[in-house]
Amino acid sequence: MAKLAIAGGEPVRKKPFDPWPVYTEAERSALDDVLTNRNWGGQPFPGKHGDAFAKTFAEFHTAKYGQCVNTGTVAIQAALKAVGIQPGDEVLVPAYTWEGTVGPVLLVNAVPVFVDVDPETYCMDAKLIEQAITPKTRAILPVHLGMRFADLDAIMSIAQKHNLKVVEDCAHVHGGMWRGKGAGSIGDLGAFSFQSSKLITCGEGGCVITGNLEYFERVQSYINTGRASVTDKFKHRMIGFNYRLGEFQAAVLGPQLERLPAQAKIRQANFDYFESRLRNTRGLGFLRPEPRITRTAPYSYVLKYFAGQMKDIPRAAFVAALQLEGIPCDGLFYEPVYRSSLFPVNPAEYPALSWGREKPLDLRNMYRCPASECAAYHEAVWFPHYLFLGSKEDIDSIADAIFKTLENIEELRSLDHPAIRSQQLSRADRES
Ligand SMILES: Cc1ncc(COP(=O)(O)O)c(C=O)c1O
Repeated sequence: MAKLAIAGGEPVRKKPFDPWPVYTEAERSALDDVLTNRNWGGQPFPGKHGDAFAKTFAEFHTAKYGQCVNTGTVAIQAALKAVGIQPGDEVLVPAYTWEGTVGPVLLVNAVPVFVDVDPETYCMDAKLIEQAITPKTRAILPVHLGMRFADLDAIMSIAQKHNLKVVEDCAHVHGGMWRGKGAGSIGDLGAFSFQSSKLITCGEGGCVITGNLEYFERVQSYINTGRASVTDKFKHRMIGFNYRLGEFQAAVLGPQLERLPAQAKIRQANFDYFESRLRNTRGLGFLRPEPRITRTAPYSYVLKYFAGQMKDIPRAAFVAALQLEGIPCDGLFYEPVYRSSLFPVNPAEYPALSWGREKPLDLRNMYRCPASECAAYHEAVWFPHYLFLGSKEDIDSIADAIFKTLENIEELRSLDHPAIRSQQLSRADRES
């Protein structure tokens, strides 16, 4: 008689986890305020809710200025424009990330240069940055991925040495702190996303933060159809676009930010308990602890699964089995962007890939980043952050499901199941 739910047994958990996003009367009354005020757009600029939120959000991350925008992708694009990235410039990006980190680089007709990640943190490997720098390099775009930060100490010192700008992709790290300073406030600018799965969400949205007034003014103009910024001290004029965030979306961000510190504490306590249960388990590993992260605000709990220690049962089967035990999780959550089906880059559309070269850069085939490929295709297991907002019993159910799966791993050998087949595909290629 099979024990694993995927093979016909009883699942560890039948009750769903509490749903995400969380909302209360605070969101409802903020939405009602927008409705009745009839000021629904991001114009006049910035709207009351968007303005108040951006200021508090920047302050919360120890930055001076904040500007809401309509997505995280646009936040990165606006930040790249703010630091003056020009067509043909090179921007260093980690290979293992969401495609939305890299798309904005191409959109400003710059060239993304992929750098592998540190196998112990899954964030851009600072040791590999200098070898990727060329005379055309202008910026580094590290991502604080999953539950860790890229090594900002090393990155900032390399940036200073080579006169490069740093834009932090903070889509995963709302409220996170590195040595007491907020995510996004250490580089030249930080770009956040408020898309549905994020730690603070309004469905779709984003924010750029910075300590530099000139950058802030450029961001404001760029995302507000080129109009003068509110302060307009530097008098920059540029072609801009309507990338404003509407007030309905901005309104729900305030209450979510207020809730974030208490949620961060709950998640941290649950992470600690989770790790105490899983420590020294054959087949599993943790990312390297990072004492310089002084406030954890992770997008996901990221665990390592070692198939080699588990009779070569692949991660896809392990993850699918956990899912059937009632635990939402994912293996092939991200992949090296250069291999992703969401990155069908055509040099004809991005002319900088051809400039000054006999043949255009073939971004899909010119890189091999072993740590990114190992994380993406073999090792990483992502558990969404909202699982860790619950009780100790919730955490026990995750750990119990993991132990049950590992103990009965042999039941997965040669098993054919739609959940396993789905796990073998990248997210974009799955049915649901
Ligand atoms: C690491 C990373 N960068 C950028 C983005 C882009 O954000 P958005 O989806 O809001 O455009 C996301 C999220 O979706 C992300 O996870």
